[in-house]
Amino acid sequence: MSHEVVEKNIGLMAILIVIVISFGGLAEIVPLFFLQETTEPVEGLKPYSALRVEGRDIYIREGCYNCHSQMIRPFRAETERYGHYSVAGEYVYDHPFQWGSKRTGPDLHRVGGRYSDDWHRAHLMNPRDVVPESNMPSFPWLATAMVDADGTAAKMRALRTVGLPYTDEEIANAKSEVEGKTEMDALIAYLQELGTALKTRR
Ligand code: HEC
Repeated sequence: MSHEVVEKNIGLMAILIVIVISFGGLAEIVPLFFLQETTEPVEGLKPYSALRVEGRDIYIREGCYNCHSQMIRPFRAETERYGHYSVAGEYVYDHPFQWGSKRTGPDLHRVGGRYSDDWHRAHLMNPRDVVPESNMPSFPWLATAMVDADGTAAKMRALRTVGLPYTDEEIANAKSEVEGKTEMDALIAYLQELGTALKTRR
């Protein structure tokens, strides 16, 4: 009888459907905020150093995420190519995440240590010099633009409020760590540590 009421009243049915779906969603999502696996950093994960904080901001500013994901899925085709699949605890210090959803270029989550700094430098100056068929754009201005050392400490303080365990000393030393470095130095420092906390590949 009550079933008939629901079936003949589309407004009521829509409301009830929304309620049922929200409960399903909550049951799946809420536990993720409390599971250690998703909230605790993997062993060996370090918060970004001052130079890497700047490098990461350059990665975001230049839109690298438009062509590169940072998320290796747990499929054979991905792990054979990139290495161990990504786990949630590797992203605990990422604000915001750089997962990306578009792979014009390869996934970069385990690119750290795969190439030398010199390779990255040549590649960013002109990708065709090292990968002839590449259609990645060149980023030559990064080699001459200097990192703005005055802003780094404030960025780290902001990151500390969202959970990165920086000490006062690390924040105080931020300026001297990035002073005199080019944006390319910072970006390469960032790339070279990507995915290295969980290094089980090859
Ligand atoms: C328009 C798309 C595009 C953008 C934007 C882009 N890339 Fe790429 N990237 C590619 C493609 C395609 C490749 C594969 C060919 C090559 O190695 O150059 C690649 C390759 C790479 C590689 C080598 C990965 C590997 O495992 O061999 C790195 C590192 C890289 N990109 C970093 C960056 C960074 C850092 C930025 C931002 C400053 C960036 N890319 C922006 C398309 C892009």
